[in-house]
Amino acid sequence: MNVLVIGSGGREHALCWKLSQSPRVEKIYCAPGNGGTSEIAENVDIAAEDIAALVKFALDKKIGLNVVGPEAPLVAGIVDEFEKNGLRIFGPSGAAAMLEGSKAFAKHIMESAGVPTAAYEVVTNIDEAQVVLEEFDKAAVKADGLCQGKGVVICSSKDEIMGAVNRLMQDSVFGDAGKKIVIEEFLEGEEASVLAFCDGKTARLMVSAQDHKRIFDGDKGPNTGGMGAYAPAPITNGMEQEIHDRVFVPVLEEMAKRGTPYKGVLYAGLMINPKTKEFSVLEFNCRFGDPETQAILPLLESDIVEAINACIDVTLDKAGMKWNDGAACCVVAAASGYPEKYEKGKVIEGLDNVKTFSEVLVFHAGTRTFDNKVLTNGGRVLGVTGIGRGISEAISNAYTGVSQVNFEGMHFRHDIGKKALGK
Ligand code: AMP
Ligand code: GLY
Repeated sequence: MNVLVIGSGGREHALCWKLSQSPRVEKIYCAPGNGGTSEIAENVDIAAEDIAALVKFALDKKIGLNVVGPEAPLVAGIVDEFEKNGLRIFGPSGAAAMLEGSKAFAKHIMESAGVPTAAYEVVTNIDEAQVVLEEFDKAAVKADGLCQGKGVVICSSKDEIMGAVNRLMQDSVFGDAGKKIVIEEFLEGEEASVLAFCDGKTARLMVSAQDHKRIFDGDKGPNTGGMGAYAPAPITNGMEQEIHDRVFVPVLEEMAKRGTPYKGVLYAGLMINPKTKEFSVLEFNCRFGDPETQAILPLLESDIVEAINACIDVTLDKAGMKWNDGAACCVVAAASGYPEKYEKGKVIEGLDNVKTFSEVLVFHAGTRTFDNKVLTNGGRVLGVTGIGRGISEAISNAYTGVSQVNFEGMHFRHDIGKKALGK
């Protein structure tokens, strides 16, 4: 079977890598892909958002399975379009992807389904925000729509809350995405990402993971797309069944009841109180996480195509799925200046050296090949994943891998996975 992976980041390279291990997969195409995917797949020069061109390509090449990485095409309804054309595709419909596409919708679903989540108000104009301000001192102010992970502002006073509301609504810093706002009670704790394969009825949890969103060590500096991740996250130890029963089951039931069953990967971002182990859902994503995927998929021992097929065919309750009981740690190497302005086109050295380390995998993100060289082509350039019997071995292997590669201005966090040590 021919497979098409849609997207161009480290997550998509990891998906291509895992799919390439399946005996069911003959050839992989990746649209648009990156320098790393071009080694195991044929890159196709079509943007992930160009749904019409992707449908045409998939029909032409008789693609047997289409796998979508990023949220934008999912929320725009790529799954509906592919299915209309008789194509087999893995991901939620546009209506189901609204769990990520609208933060207000996600809160309504959680409320109806009884999923633990922070108290909140949805506002659509500044006067409404003034009224609900009474309820909040510290809050997370969230643009309703997609903002490439940048639409949340943590506010420590009523003044800051109104400042954030004004930037979103008056200054329209996120355009239409900020026309509606969720103001949410501020929660403290430790975050974890719990992803599950879903077939509309059944959810099968993957190993949990933890992302590192800030640019600098010790969770300092501005937010990024994610500077590293590790799996499993010990903070969720012993909580898997409860998370399954109190988050995924009720959400799948609620979505099915509304006539929009959720199929694909559902990603719950959780805030967990380390002492009481009480938890709350901060957000849903309608896809694999990036860079969580680069730490999670190396621990999946069974065939990912079986899991994906079971989601599409609604047979997940019977699917066999096997996870390695070791750990994985992914360290992201970023371009100088990221997450602000950065340069592209730097030559990346050492990629061949690192291939000699059997416990290290390098997933490309912002890279491209030119003239037999691999060049930087984005802010997050590489994700170097170390695998180990436990988290400390995985961390050590990841940093051994990182030490083998270099490009001008390369920087990375030195503390990925540290929170898991000693737990
Ligand atoms: P979200 O995109 O909703 O996950 O928000 C991005 C980040 O903002 C999360 O990963 C948290 O670090 C933080 N955040 C979101 N909601 C809250 C909340 N209610 N309390 C504290 N932090 C939050
Ligand atoms: N790692 C966070 C995300 O994928 O949204």
